[in-house]
Amino acid sequence: MTAPIGVFDSGHGGLTILAGLETALPDEHYLYLGDHAAAPYGQRTPAEIYARTQAAMELLFALGCRLVVLACNTAVAVALRRLQQGWLAERHPGRRVLGVLVPVVEQLTGVPWSVETPPPGPWPPKRRVALFATPRTVETGTYPDEVARRAPWVTVESQACPALAGAIEANAPDEELRHLVRAAAAELLDRVAGARIEAAVLGCTHYPLVERHFSEALPGIPLLSQPALVGSSLADYLRRRPDYRSGPGETRFYTTGDAAFVTPLAGRFLGRAVRFQQVPG
Ligand code: DGL
Repeated sequence: MTAPIGVFDSGHGGLTILAGLETALPDEHYLYLGDHAAAPYGQRTPAEIYARTQAAMELLFALGCRLVVLACNTAVAVALRRLQQGWLAERHPGRRVLGVLVPVVEQLTGVPWSVETPPPGPWPPKRRVALFATPRTVETGTYPDEVARRAPWVTVESQACPALAGAIEANAPDEELRHLVRAAAAELLDRVAGARIEAAVLGCTHYPLVERHFSEALPGIPLLSQPALVGSSLADYLRRRPDYRSGPGETRFYTTGDAAFVTPLAGRFLGRAVRFQQVPG
Protein backbone atom coordinates (compact mmCIF):
# COMPACT_ATOMS: atom_id res chain seq x y z
CA MET A 1 0.00 0.00 0.00
CA THR A 2 1.30 3.47 -0.88
CA ALA A 3 1.46 6.41 1.54
CA PRO A 4 -1.32 9.00 1.29
CA ILE A 5 -0.31 12.65 0.87
CA GLY A 6 -1.12 14.51 4.11
CA VAL A 7 -2.89 17.89 4.05
CA PHE A 8 -3.09 19.92 7.26
CA ASP A 9 -4.91 23.09 8.30
CA SER A 10 -6.16 24.62 11.52
CA GLY A 11 -9.68 23.80 10.40
CA HIS A 12 -11.62 23.71 7.16
CA GLY A 13 -9.53 26.15 5.14
CA GLY A 14 -7.09 23.53 3.88
CA LEU A 15 -9.98 21.86 2.07
CA THR A 16 -9.75 24.67 -0.51
CA ILE A 17 -6.13 23.63 -1.07
CA LEU A 18 -7.14 19.96 -1.19
CA ALA A 19 -9.61 20.88 -3.95
CA GLY A 20 -6.71 22.44 -5.89
CA LEU A 21 -4.60 19.31 -5.35
CA GLU A 22 -7.40 17.01 -6.49
CA THR A 23 -7.86 19.05 -9.66
CA ALA A 24 -4.14 19.07 -10.50
CA LEU A 25 -3.46 15.51 -9.29
CA PRO A 26 -6.65 13.45 -9.59
CA ASP A 27 -4.74 10.16 -9.44
CA GLU A 28 -3.33 10.69 -5.94
CA HIS A 29 -5.07 10.11 -2.60
CA TYR A 30 -4.89 12.25 0.49
CA LEU A 31 -5.28 12.23 4.24
CA TYR A 32 -6.74 15.50 5.51
CA LEU A 33 -6.32 16.66 9.10
CA GLY A 34 -8.06 19.73 10.55
CA ASP A 35 -7.12 20.95 14.02
CA HIS A 36 -10.66 22.18 14.58
CA ALA A 37 -10.26 21.86 18.35
CA ALA A 38 -7.79 24.77 18.23
CA ALA A 39 -9.05 26.82 15.24
CA PRO A 40 -8.65 29.62 14.42
CA TYR A 41 -4.85 29.76 14.59
CA GLY A 42 -4.62 33.38 13.46
CA GLN A 43 -4.88 34.81 16.92
CA ARG A 44 -2.94 32.09 18.79
CA THR A 45 0.60 32.61 20.06
CA PRO A 46 3.53 31.51 17.88
CA ALA A 47 4.50 28.94 20.55
CA GLU A 48 1.03 27.38 20.45
CA ILE A 49 0.97 27.34 16.64
CA TYR A 50 4.41 25.72 16.48
CA ALA A 51 3.54 23.05 19.05
CA ARG A 52 0.19 22.17 17.46
CA THR A 53 1.64 22.08 13.93
CA GLN A 54 4.46 19.81 15.05
CA ALA A 55 1.98 17.49 16.81
CA ALA A 56 -0.17 17.40 13.66
CA MET A 57 2.84 16.42 11.52
CA GLU A 58 3.69 13.64 14.02
CA LEU A 59 0.12 12.35 13.74
CA LEU A 60 0.07 12.43 9.93
CA PHE A 61 3.41 10.60 9.83
CA ALA A 62 2.08 8.03 12.33
CA LEU A 63 -0.93 7.56 10.03
CA GLY A 64 1.44 6.69 7.19
CA CYS A 65 2.07 9.97 5.31
CA ARG A 66 5.57 10.55 3.94
CA LEU A 67 4.76 13.90 2.32
CA VAL A 68 2.56 16.57 3.94
CA VAL A 69 1.23 19.80 2.47
CA LEU A 70 0.96 22.38 5.23
CA ALA A 71 -2.22 24.03 3.93
CA CYS A 72 -2.36 26.81 6.51
CA ASN A 73 -0.57 30.08 5.78
CA THR A 74 -0.45 30.94 9.47
CA ALA A 75 1.28 27.67 10.41
CA VAL A 76 3.63 28.04 7.43
CA ALA A 77 4.55 31.62 8.33
CA VAL A 78 5.12 30.84 12.00
CA ALA A 79 6.47 27.30 12.05
CA LEU A 80 7.55 25.78 8.75
CA ARG A 81 11.13 27.00 8.42
CA ARG A 82 11.89 25.98 12.01
CA LEU A 83 10.26 22.56 11.53
CA GLN A 84 12.18 21.92 8.32
CA GLN A 85 15.53 23.08 9.62
CA GLY A 86 15.79 21.03 12.79
CA TRP A 87 13.09 18.65 13.87
CA LEU A 88 12.13 17.18 10.49
CA ALA A 89 15.61 16.27 9.32
CA GLU A 90 16.63 14.92 12.73
CA ARG A 91 13.48 13.06 13.75
CA HIS A 92 11.87 12.15 10.43
CA PRO A 93 14.51 11.87 7.72
CA GLY A 94 12.91 11.00 4.40
CA ARG A 95 9.61 12.73 5.25
CA ARG A 96 8.78 16.03 3.59
CA VAL A 97 6.60 18.99 4.62
CA LEU A 98 5.79 21.49 1.84
CA GLY A 99 4.04 24.79 2.51
CA VAL A 100 1.52 26.85 0.59
CA LEU A 101 3.69 29.98 0.58
CA VAL A 102 6.42 28.90 -1.85
CA PRO A 103 4.21 28.64 -4.99
CA VAL A 104 2.71 32.07 -4.27
CA VAL A 105 6.10 33.71 -3.73
CA GLU A 106 7.42 32.13 -6.95
CA GLN A 107 4.39 33.47 -8.83
CA LEU A 108 4.75 36.98 -7.38
CA THR A 109 8.48 37.20 -8.02
CA GLY A 110 8.89 35.14 -11.18
CA VAL A 111 11.99 33.75 -9.44
CA PRO A 112 12.44 30.09 -8.35
CA TRP A 113 12.37 29.53 -4.58
CA SER A 114 15.91 28.14 -4.61
CA VAL A 115 17.21 31.58 -5.68
CA GLU A 116 17.66 33.51 -2.44
CA THR A 117 19.27 36.67 -3.73
CA PRO A 118 18.06 39.15 -6.35
CA PRO A 119 19.44 38.74 -9.87
CA PRO A 120 21.88 41.37 -11.16
CA GLY A 121 20.13 44.38 -12.70
CA PRO A 122 18.59 45.89 -14.61
CA TRP A 123 15.48 44.95 -12.63
CA PRO A 124 11.92 45.03 -13.96
CA PRO A 125 9.82 48.11 -13.14
CA LYS A 126 8.57 48.44 -9.57
CA ARG A 127 5.31 46.61 -8.81
CA ARG A 128 2.98 46.56 -5.83
CA VAL A 129 0.82 43.61 -4.76
CA ALA A 130 -1.57 43.13 -1.86
CA LEU A 131 -1.65 40.33 0.69
CA PHE A 132 -4.71 39.63 2.84
CA ALA A 133 -4.02 37.24 5.69
CA THR A 134 -4.54 36.49 9.37
CA PRO A 135 -3.04 38.91 11.91
CA ARG A 136 -0.44 36.31 12.87
CA THR A 137 0.69 35.71 9.26
CA VAL A 138 0.99 39.47 8.69
CA GLU A 139 2.88 39.98 11.93
CA THR A 140 5.58 37.44 10.94
CA GLY A 141 6.39 39.44 7.79
CA THR A 142 7.17 36.14 6.04
CA TYR A 143 5.49 36.94 2.70
CA PRO A 144 7.05 40.41 2.19
CA ASP A 145 10.43 39.19 3.44
CA GLU A 146 10.56 36.16 1.13
CA VAL A 147 9.43 38.27 -1.84
CA ALA A 148 11.91 41.10 -1.11
CA ARG A 149 14.78 38.64 -0.78
CA ARG A 150 14.23 37.45 -4.38
CA ALA A 151 12.55 40.39 -6.12
CA PRO A 152 13.13 43.73 -4.38
CA TRP A 153 11.18 45.43 -7.17
CA VAL A 154 7.95 43.86 -5.82
CA THR A 155 6.40 45.55 -2.77
CA VAL A 156 3.93 43.49 -0.74
CA GLU A 157 1.29 45.58 1.02
CA SER A 158 0.07 43.34 3.85
CA GLN A 159 -3.38 43.67 5.34
CA ALA A 160 -4.52 41.70 8.38
CA CYS A 161 -8.15 40.56 8.40
CA PRO A 162 -8.93 40.05 12.08
CA ALA A 163 -11.80 37.67 12.75
CA LEU A 164 -12.35 36.75 9.09
CA ALA A 165 -11.01 33.16 9.19
CA GLY A 166 -12.83 32.52 12.45
CA ALA A 167 -16.09 33.87 11.02
CA ILE A 168 -15.74 31.70 7.88
CA GLU A 169 -14.91 28.65 10.00
CA ALA A 170 -18.00 29.33 12.15
CA ASN A 171 -20.24 29.66 9.07
CA ALA A 172 -21.15 33.28 9.90
CA PRO A 173 -23.88 34.99 7.83
CA ASP A 174 -22.72 36.13 4.40
CA GLU A 175 -23.46 39.80 5.16
CA GLU A 176 -21.09 39.67 8.15
CA LEU A 177 -18.36 38.10 5.99
CA ARG A 178 -18.89 40.73 3.30
CA HIS A 179 -18.57 43.47 5.89
CA LEU A 180 -15.29 42.05 7.27
CA VAL A 181 -13.82 41.79 3.75
CA ARG A 182 -14.91 45.29 2.77
CA ALA A 183 -13.40 46.75 5.96
CA ALA A 184 -10.04 45.06 5.32
CA ALA A 185 -10.00 46.06 1.64
CA ALA A 186 -10.92 49.67 2.46
CA GLU A 187 -8.12 49.89 5.02
CA LEU A 188 -5.56 48.68 2.48
CA LEU A 189 -6.82 50.93 -0.33
CA ASP A 190 -6.74 53.93 2.03
CA ARG A 191 -3.20 53.15 3.06
CA VAL A 192 -1.85 52.90 -0.49
CA ALA A 193 -3.60 56.16 -1.36
CA GLY A 194 -4.30 55.52 -5.03
CA ALA A 195 -1.08 53.62 -5.85
CA ARG A 196 -1.67 50.88 -8.41
CA ILE A 197 -2.06 47.34 -6.99
CA GLU A 198 -1.29 44.76 -9.68
CA ALA A 199 -2.66 41.67 -7.95
CA ALA A 200 -3.95 40.48 -4.61
CA VAL A 201 -3.15 37.27 -2.75
CA LEU A 202 -5.73 35.74 -0.45
CA GLY A 203 -3.07 34.46 1.94
CA CYS A 204 -5.32 32.39 4.16
CA THR A 205 -6.76 29.12 2.99
CA HIS A 206 -10.19 30.05 4.34
CA TYR A 207 -10.51 33.13 2.13
CA PRO A 208 -11.39 31.47 -1.22
CA LEU A 209 -14.85 31.05 0.28
CA VAL A 210 -15.27 34.82 0.29
CA GLU A 211 -13.41 35.42 -2.97
CA ARG A 212 -16.47 37.08 -4.51
CA HIS A 213 -16.49 39.64 -1.69
CA PHE A 214 -12.80 40.38 -2.29
CA SER A 215 -13.43 40.75 -6.04
CA GLU A 216 -16.24 43.18 -5.35
CA ALA A 217 -14.20 45.18 -2.82
CA LEU A 218 -11.09 45.32 -5.05
CA PRO A 219 -12.47 46.20 -8.49
CA GLY A 220 -10.02 45.70 -11.32
CA ILE A 221 -7.45 43.90 -9.15
CA PRO A 222 -6.87 40.25 -10.15
CA LEU A 223 -6.88 37.73 -7.30
CA LEU A 224 -4.25 34.98 -7.37
CA SER A 225 -5.61 31.49 -6.72
CA GLN A 226 -3.49 29.85 -4.04
CA PRO A 227 -5.21 26.42 -4.45
CA ALA A 228 -4.42 26.37 -8.20
CA LEU A 229 -0.82 27.50 -7.66
CA VAL A 230 -0.25 24.91 -4.92
CA GLY A 231 -1.81 22.19 -7.10
CA SER A 232 0.45 22.85 -10.06
CA SER A 233 3.48 23.23 -7.81
CA LEU A 234 2.85 19.84 -6.17
CA ALA A 235 2.34 18.27 -9.60
CA ASP A 236 5.73 19.64 -10.60
CA TYR A 237 7.32 18.35 -7.36
CA LEU A 238 5.91 14.85 -7.90
CA ARG A 239 7.22 14.80 -11.47
CA ARG A 240 10.68 15.35 -10.00
CA ARG A 241 10.11 13.11 -6.95
CA PRO A 242 7.81 10.27 -8.08
CA ASP A 243 8.84 8.33 -4.97
CA TYR A 244 6.49 10.64 -3.00
CA ARG A 245 3.45 9.86 -5.16
CA SER A 246 0.57 8.21 -3.32
CA GLY A 247 -1.20 6.69 -6.30
CA PRO A 248 -4.97 6.14 -6.34
CA GLY A 249 -6.83 5.35 -3.13
CA GLU A 250 -9.49 6.60 -0.77
CA THR A 251 -9.07 10.11 0.66
CA ARG A 252 -9.82 10.24 4.40
CA PHE A 253 -10.68 13.16 6.69
CA TYR A 254 -9.69 13.51 10.35
CA THR A 255 -10.42 16.20 12.90
CA THR A 256 -9.20 16.99 16.41
CA GLY A 257 -12.64 18.51 16.98
CA ASP A 258 -16.16 17.13 16.96
CA ALA A 259 -16.61 15.09 13.77
CA ALA A 260 -20.41 15.37 13.88
CA PHE A 261 -20.16 19.18 13.97
CA VAL A 262 -17.37 19.48 11.42
CA THR A 263 -18.73 17.10 8.75
CA PRO A 264 -21.76 19.12 7.56
CA LEU A 265 -19.65 22.29 7.11
CA ALA A 266 -16.98 20.68 4.94
CA GLY A 267 -18.88 20.60 1.65
CA ARG A 268 -18.79 24.41 1.33
CA PHE A 269 -14.98 24.33 1.25
CA LEU A 270 -14.42 21.25 -0.89
CA GLY A 271 -17.42 21.35 -3.20
CA ARG A 272 -18.57 17.85 -2.25
CA ALA A 273 -19.81 16.12 0.87
CA VAL A 274 -17.25 14.21 2.96
CA ARG A 275 -17.30 12.53 6.33
CA PHE A 276 -14.79 13.49 9.03
CA GLN A 277 -13.70 11.10 11.73
CA GLN A 278 -12.14 11.78 15.11
CA VAL A 279 -8.34 11.53 15.21
CA PRO A 280 -7.33 8.13 16.54
CA GLY A 281 -6.18 7.79 20.15
N1 DGL B 1 -6.49 28.84 7.12
C1 DGL B 1 -5.37 29.30 7.87
C2 DGL B 1 -4.44 30.13 7.03
O1 DGL B 1 -4.25 29.82 5.87
C3 DGL B 1 -5.56 29.84 9.23
C4 DGL B 1 -6.87 30.36 9.64
C5 DGL B 1 -6.90 30.40 11.13
O2 DGL B 1 -6.97 29.32 11.70
O3 DGL B 1 -6.81 31.50 11.69
O4 DGL B 1 -3.85 31.06 7.50
